[in-house]
Amino acid sequence: MRAVVVEHYDSIDGISIREKDLPEVAAGEVRVRIGAAAVGFVDGLKVQGLYQTKDPLPFVPGTEFAGTVDSVADDVAGFKPGMPVLGMTRSGALAEYISVPSAALKHLPAQVPFEAGASFQANYLTGLYALEARALLRAGETLLVLGAAGGVGIAAVQIGKLMGARVIAAASTPEKRAFAVRHGADETVDYTEANWRDTLKTLTGGHGPDVIYDPVGGEVSLQAFRSIAWLGRHLVVGFASGTIPALAFNLPLLKGGALLGVDLAQIQKREPETHARLIAQLFDWLASGKLQPVVGKVVPFENFREAFKTMQSRSALGKMIIKFP
Ligand SMILES: NC(=O)c1ccc[n+]([C@@H]2O[C@H](COP(=O)([O-])OP(=O)(O)OC[C@H]3O[C@@H](n4cnc5c(N)ncnc54)[C@H](OP(=O)(O)O)[C@@H]3O)[C@@H](O)[C@H]2O)c1
Repeated sequence: MRAVVVEHYDSIDGISIREKDLPEVAAGEVRVRIGAAAVGFVDGLKVQGLYQTKDPLPFVPGTEFAGTVDSVADDVAGFKPGMPVLGMTRSGALAEYISVPSAALKHLPAQVPFEAGASFQANYLTGLYALEARALLRAGETLLVLGAAGGVGIAAVQIGKLMGARVIAAASTPEKRAFAVRHGADETVDYTEANWRDTLKTLTGGHGPDVIYDPVGGEVSLQAFRSIAWLGRHLVVGFASGTIPALAFNLPLLKGGALLGVDLAQIQKREPETHARLIAQLFDWLASGKLQPVVGKVVPFENFREAFKTMQSRSALGKMIIKFP
């Protein structure tokens, strides 16, 4: 089989597709023929060895995928060859086949394409956990999403709308803001403009956003927090800008506001019941069509570098998807 193999941490131009043995199917495992895999911001850091945890070399990048069950270990129940599935893994999804523990897989509803399945779990679970379990977002509240056209941001826009919030999408270009509106945002703001806090004030009638969903970090986070409503909740999701902001503690005091951390990687281990409930909710929405995961740019496997470059050049709309033949 073919796989993207990182032999040395490198820029994406230094990384290639290689031939590898088909993965074995150990006890408890299922082998999947991958139909589509997603590339997120974190994957771009991991291949360069710049992420907070480093995958031991050599490794195959990619943590989210959807495809068809190819082979199943004798001791695994519930999966059969030919079934459509989606899954999450620590690494290995940018390959034609992957073997994973059966617990890493979920059934993909028949009507959901592989591209949407691969875009689904991480960003939407992060969004629902943050907005529902951490911020306790209520219908009628105003939600400000920073980086709203990115993979994580656009998922929060959709979930915010499903929860009944009024959603203001902040993004850097007219194209990105239009994209957020197509996926449900009620209003937009260009947060690269010097006076964007005035626009936000006007849009919220002076109240400010009740909840801020922040995968961007940097100066924009500090400005956003200064605009937050009384008893507002600011969700710390990521630092796509490359800068971890330092907030002066007098601001939460003056605003009666809260900073709330969100870490997808720890939800299942630390809050298993919440995790199970949120996953059930998400798959319910997926199966009913109430939630349609946004598929960003789709590139063929051979052109995998294009997906990374689009994201790394800040030009991605939604999550980047790599499609397998
Ligand atoms: N906490 C968690 O559990 C969790 C889970 C998943 C991801 N994350 C984090 O969330 C962040 C976003 O991930 P993503 O996959 O959504 O990335 P993405 O698709 O690339 O979106 C990031 C957005 O950030 C904005 N941005 C501002 N400054 C930027 C810069 N210098 N370079 C790139 N983008 C910049 C861009 O929007 P504008 O151009 O409109 O400014 C972009 O759309 C990452 O830091 C990731 O590690 C956290």
